[in-house]
Amino acid sequence: IDIKTLRSATNGVITIDPGYKNTGSCESAITFLDGEKGVLRYRGYAIEDLAEKASFLEVAYLLIFGELPAESQLEKFYTDIKAESIVDEEMKKILDGFPKSAHPMGVLSSLTSALIAFNPSAVNVDSEEDMYRAIVKLLAKFPVLVAWTLRKKNGQPLDYGDSSLSYVENILKMMFKKPQEEYKVSKVVTEALNKLLILHADHEQNCSTSTVRIVGSSHAGLFASISAGISALWGPLHGGANQAVIEMLEGIKEDGGDTKKYMAKAKDKEDPFRLMGFGHRVYKNFDPRAKIIKKSADEVLGDLGIQDPVLDIAKGLEKEALEDDYFVKRKLYPNVDFYSGIIYRALGIPTEMFTVMFALGRLPGWIAQWREMRLRKEPIGRPRQIYIGENLREFKDISNR
Ligand code: ACO
Repeated sequence: IDIKTLRSATNGVITIDPGYKNTGSCESAITFLDGEKGVLRYRGYAIEDLAEKASFLEVAYLLIFGELPAESQLEKFYTDIKAESIVDEEMKKILDGFPKSAHPMGVLSSLTSALIAFNPSAVNVDSEEDMYRAIVKLLAKFPVLVAWTLRKKNGQPLDYGDSSLSYVENILKMMFKKPQEEYKVSKVVTEALNKLLILHADHEQNCSTSTVRIVGSSHAGLFASISAGISALWGPLHGGANQAVIEMLEGIKEDGGDTKKYMAKAKDKEDPFRLMGFGHRVYKNFDPRAKIIKKSADEVLGDLGIQDPVLDIAKGLEKEALEDDYFVKRKLYPNVDFYSGIIYRALGIPTEMFTVMFALGRLPGWIAQWREMRLRKEPIGRPRQIYIGENLREFKDISNR
């Protein structure tokens, strides 16, 4: 049955599905996910292969345009991106206006929205060429905004990148270069970040991606749609979980490391506490990204010579959960964010920046989904409701209420 027939067949019938647990919002050729088997593929390529063998920029190209790029295609793509990496100097004044204590996700979504004012040509995208230009601009400027957000938090002067570096090396340099010091690119750190960004790059119709598609469906423009996606990602039930996980693990450590006590809290229905980083709307088996990240956490901490006691607490919680009836019955396994924060910490990224790093990784997926939605000329997203409020009431003047 095609979508048009389906639409006319259901005319007048409204399905109530809070949280859209069983409602498809679109057809998509970008990401395949089998939650029962723990399978994730971008454009048909296994996440395990991409995380091991590809660069983040190659994966961005793959997600957005549908094919892995040939060398010349990737080179042109990166050259086009580098040509757009300057962010208007006036944007620095906006950044200056934020208090140092501002949450980086709020700063990032505001700066992304503000980019529209300085790049008005990126709003009306009537052709594929217009789309390409808007996409390249965003892939160029977004890492600069991420780096500025971190440098603001750290009270460091802003810095631009170095076009001789790869996309990911350049991000690291923009984030971490100290004034008057040369920045040395570390292979371990670059590879770890490359992998994390790839693992976060897309995940079909999650909360933030659906937000990007629905905002974009009103033709609000790419930057506005992405800014909305950043806000959706911020929440602790979605991307904000990576920050919440580390805060939870730290809390458990400070409380004496008694994981059993927290397992009991997570199972107690009267207690709002949840085991952050556990459970997933779609994965009812191990999240394949969590497997890769857990291994990577061990490697990165080993290579950098870091011993982090919260990694032991995390492993302890995982072991207990895998043997616990409550978690087994509900098919609750560690998700992508259970171990990612431990790596971000090892790379020197402050806890409040974790969700920003997630946004950086998710950017190509959001862009790919927005582009697909526009190219398929999808209608404006506009869910229905069942009204359960009052019937017609007589208006009473304020003095008579
Ligand atoms: N700790 C304890 N119990 C949990 C947890 C958890 N982390 N997650 C789910 N449950 C329980 C629920 O209480 C519910 O139990 P019940 O059937 O007895 O009522 C059952 O498992 C099903 O959970 P729902 O909340 O209905 O599942 P839903 O698909 O709506 O939510 C979600 C999924 C939001 C990810 C949830 O598992 C959760 O809150 N996890 C912790 C936050 C988190 O890690 N979020 C990141 C997700 S990954 C990402 O966005 C990148």
